[in-house]
Amino acid sequence: VEHAKLNACREACRILRETYRDASVIGVGTGSTIKLLIDHCRDFFTGKRLVPSSADTMLHLASIGYTVLLDPAGVDEVDVYIDGADEVSSKLDMVKGRGGAFAREKTLALRSRERIYVVDYTKYTGVDYLYAKPIPVEVLPVSLRYVVRKLGELGYGEPVLRVGSGKDGPVVSDNGNYIVDYKLSKPVRDPLALHNALKLLHGVIETGVFPSELVDMVIVGEPSGVKVLKK
Ligand code: A5P
Repeated sequence: VEHAKLNACREACRILRETYRDASVIGVGTGSTIKLLIDHCRDFFTGKRLVPSSADTMLHLASIGYTVLLDPAGVDEVDVYIDGADEVSSKLDMVKGRGGAFAREKTLALRSRERIYVVDYTKYTGVDYLYAKPIPVEVLPVSLRYVVRKLGELGYGEPVLRVGSGKDGPVVSDNGNYIVDYKLSKPVRDPLALHNALKLLHGVIETGVFPSELVDMVIVGEPSGVKVLKK
């Protein structure tokens, strides 16, 4: 898998250098794949204005000497957004948010001209529905019990509060909220409908559903090569 990830990052780097050489504002996602990409593509990222999607990415960028880091709150338009993903369907609908950064990732993807995702082959399911990974839901802490009850009633699966990661109690997002992982009990064939149903619940800030509307290209790394998927 690590080799596949590296193949995907090499291809992503080649595409960034070739097609986005003149891009100025780059949205930078979160996760191990993106860190690998940053480390293998320093020449592309150097001199750009980088907008990190999480404290984790901000600290990684700062630790290797990037100083032109912008807060998403102050950025209107991103030229290109580059990120990983947790599950990708054949329709290029995606689930994101294992790292808990999906609200900021989505706000960057929404205001970006081009969105490129870099994954290894284990993330690409090849089926036209979402099912493999739980859907992360960012929840206002005071509304947690209400949202968990409502998610149960909606009937898509089982809501589980995300806990742990070196701390007792709930994981707290960069926005100060809790995360509930909605473990699906059936395939989701209309991800936008699920996302919309979740967003109607009081207390739901954002979901980890990234419908294909937020996807321009997915670079899938395989043990010996890459597949580039476009809409
Ligand atoms: C972060 O919240 C996620 O959306 C990540 O983009 C996703 O989990 C990919 O992470 P890896 O590259 O570590 O698999």
